[in-house]
Amino acid sequence: MRKIQLGAILLLLGMLFSMVSCVSDNNTPSPPEKEPTPSTNTTEDPTLNDPTVKDPTPHDPTPDIPLPETPFITLPSFPMAENRGDLILVNRDYHFDSDLVLSELLPVQSAVSDPELAEYLKVERPDMALTEITAYAFAQLSKGMQTALSCDKKIHVYSAFRDNAYQQSIIDDYLSRPNYGQSYVDNYVAPVGASEHHTGMAADINLIDENKTTYSFRNALVATEYAWILEHAHEYGLIRRYTDDKKEFTGYNEEVWHFRYVGVPHAEYMYQNNICFEEYHILLADTAYDAPLVITTSLGETYSVYTDDPSDGLQVPRHLAYTLSGSNSGSYIVTVNGSYSGAGVIDPSVDPLTVTLCTAWYLPARKADMPVYE
Ligand code: DAL
Ligand code: ZN
Repeated sequence: MRKIQLGAILLLLGMLFSMVSCVSDNNTPSPPEKEPTPSTNTTEDPTLNDPTVKDPTPHDPTPDIPLPETPFITLPSFPMAENRGDLILVNRDYHFDSDLVLSELLPVQSAVSDPELAEYLKVERPDMALTEITAYAFAQLSKGMQTALSCDKKIHVYSAFRDNAYQQSIIDDYLSRPNYGQSYVDNYVAPVGASEHHTGMAADINLIDENKTTYSFRNALVATEYAWILEHAHEYGLIRRYTDDKKEFTGYNEEVWHFRYVGVPHAEYMYQNNICFEEYHILLADTAYDAPLVITTSLGETYSVYTDDPSDGLQVPRHLAYTLSGSNSGSYIVTVNGSYSGAGVIDPSVDPLTVTLCTAWYLPARKADMPVYE
C-alpha cells in the first residue's frame, strides 16, 4: 500500500514537472534555425511591399532621405529694393543707376580682405572698384587657375565699376575713332544706364605675368589659361556674359573679356545648360515658391530658386536659409539653400529677427557660418 502511495506521488510529481516544462516551452522561443531576415509580410515599412519601389541596396551610401516640409512665411516688408542684389539683370531693356551701388564699392585689391588671396588679383589702376563679393570671386578664380595650371599668370582687371559719365566717355571715344564709330558702339558698348559695369559686379579682364606683360584672351599664348577660365568661372559664381550664339538675347557681339558675378548656383546652372543671363531670367519668371528651379552644383550642393511677384508680399521659407535678390525687372528672386517639399504651407507667424538675418548678403567664405533656422 505504501509502495502504491509512493508510486502515485512520483507519478504526480512527474506529471507536474512535465506541465511546468510545457508552460516554460511556450514562453521561451526556440532558438532560430537561421538568422531572422526581414519579411515583406511582417515589416512595418510600407515601401518594402510596394512593387514600384526598388529593393534597398545594402551598400547604397545615399539612401533616399525625405525632403523637409517647409512652411513659408510672407515677409511684412521688403528688406531690399527690387533693383538690388546679385541677380539684377542690366541691359538695354533694364537700366541701373550707378549711384545706387556707390556705398558698396571698394578698391578692388582692398576689397579682398585676405592679403594672400588679394595678391592673385591685379588691377590696371588702384582706383578701380568692384563690390566686395565680385572682387573676391575674381581673386579666387585667379588663384584657382594659377594653382591648377602651375602658371605664372594672374587675372588682371582693366575695367571695373563705371558711372554714367565714364560710360559716356567710352562711347564718345569709340565714336571719335575712325576704325570704330557707331557700328562698334552698337555691337560692343552699352548705352549710358544699360551697362553692367554700373553695378560693380562686372569686370573686363585679361591675364598679366610677373613682368607685367598683359595677354588678351584672344592671344594664343594664353589659350590654355583661357580654356581653364571658361570651364571653371561658374564655380566661383562668374559668367562670361556675351557670346556670339546669344547675341539675339544680349544684343552684343562676343566679348571674351567681360565677366559678371551672379553667385555660384546661378552661374553653374547657366553654364550647365548653356543659357545666357537673359534666358535665365526668362526661365525664372516661370517659377514660384511652390514650383522652384532646383539646382545641383558641381560640388553637390542643392539650391531651390524661384521668382516672386511682390504685389502680394514675398514668400520665403520659414526653416531654410535663403538669400534674396531683386531681378531689376519687377520681381524678387529667392535662392533657398537646399530643396524642400510641403511648399504650400504658409505660416502666418513671422519672426522679424529671422527675416533680417536670412536676407543678409554673404560671401562664399562666410557661407558656412550662415545660420540655418530650425
Ligand atoms: N561692353 C558692355 C556691353 C558694356 O559696355 O557694358
Ligand atoms: Zn565689360
